[in-house]
Amino acid sequence: MRVLSGIQPSGALHIGNYFGAIRQYIDLQRGNDAFYFVADYHALTSVRDAARLRGYVFDVIADLLALGLDPEAATLFVQSDVPETTELAWLLTSVTPMGWLEKCVSYKDKVQQGLPAEHGLFAYPVLQAADILLYDADVVPVGQDQKQHLEVTRDIAERFNNTYGETFRLPRPHILDAVAVVPGVDGRKMSKSYDNTIEIFDDPKAILKKCKKIVTDSTPVEAPKDPDTDNLFRLFALCAPPDEVAEVDARYRAGGIGYGEVKTRLAEHIVRRFAGPRERRAELVADPGRVAEVRRAAADRARKAARAVLDRARAACGLG
Ligand code: TRP
Repeated sequence: MRVLSGIQPSGALHIGNYFGAIRQYIDLQRGNDAFYFVADYHALTSVRDAARLRGYVFDVIADLLALGLDPEAATLFVQSDVPETTELAWLLTSVTPMGWLEKCVSYKDKVQQGLPAEHGLFAYPVLQAADILLYDADVVPVGQDQKQHLEVTRDIAERFNNTYGETFRLPRPHILDAVAVVPGVDGRKMSKSYDNTIEIFDDPKAILKKCKKIVTDSTPVEAPKDPDTDNLFRLFALCAPPDEVAEVDARYRAGGIGYGEVKTRLAEHIVRRFAGPRERRAELVADPGRVAEVRRAAADRARKAARAVLDRARAACGLG
C-alpha cells in the first residue's frame, strides 16, 4: 500500500510531534510503500524568511533520519523538489467550488489567530489534495485536525473523476490514535502555537527546565493522586519504561509521591530515550552532504511517480 503524509517544517520537533505522528510514520515504513514529504510549499503561508525555511526543511529531514526513518525503506522528499505538485494543484483548483474551501475550519482558525487572509492560505486544502493525489496514495495517516482536508481531497478527486473520467485513486484517511494526543506543559494539547512544548533535541538542562514547568494541582506529597487525570503522569507514561510507569501509577494511588520527583524522572527518561537519535542527529548536522544526498535520491523517486500521474491528469482534461 502506498502510505503518504506531509510534515510542516515549522521548527524544532517536540515530543507531541513524535508520539502524535512521527513514531507512527516510522512504524508504517515497514510493509508499506511509504512516501513522506516536508511540506515547504505549504510553509510559505507562514514562514516568510528564506534562510529560516531552508533551516527548518533541513531539520525535518535530519530529525526523521535520526529518529529511525530509513531512507531505503521510505521515500523522504521535499514537496518543492517535485514542482509537478503545483501544476496538479491548478488542475484541481479549476474544479473546486469556493464553498468547499469556505467551510474549512483551519482557514478560519488561522485567520482568527492573526495570519493574513491570503489566497495561499485559503487554497491550502487544494495544494494538499494535489500532494495526495499526485502519488496515488492509498492511505494518509494524519491527526484528527486534518480530517476535513482529507474529505475535501476525496471530494475534489471524485469531482475530477466525474468530470473527466477515472483519473485519481481515492485515498483513505488513517486518523492517528487520539490517545497519542500529548498534553503540553500547561495541560492543553502540546503545540508550538500554545508555547507549551518540550523539544526532543534540546539539551538536557533545557528539557529538565521544561519538565519542571508542567502544571499540576496542589495535592500534597502524602495524599493519593489520580494518575488518569494528571498531565504529568500522562507524559511520564509515554516516555518511561513500563515497569516504572506501573510503579509510579501505584504510588500515585497510594499517596507518598511528589510531583517534583516525577518531573525529574520524566526529564531523565526523555533524555535517555532520545540519546541515540540525539547522537545520530549531531552526526547528520556535521555531514549535511549526507542529508542532501537522501533528499536528492528521494526527489528522483517521488518525481517519477508524480510525473506519471500528472500526465494522466493533463491528458484527461485536454492539456498537451
Ligand atoms: N496540512 C498538514 C498539516 O498541517 C500537512 C500536509 C500537507 C499534509 N500536505 C499533506 C498531510 C498531505 C498529509 C497529506 O499537518
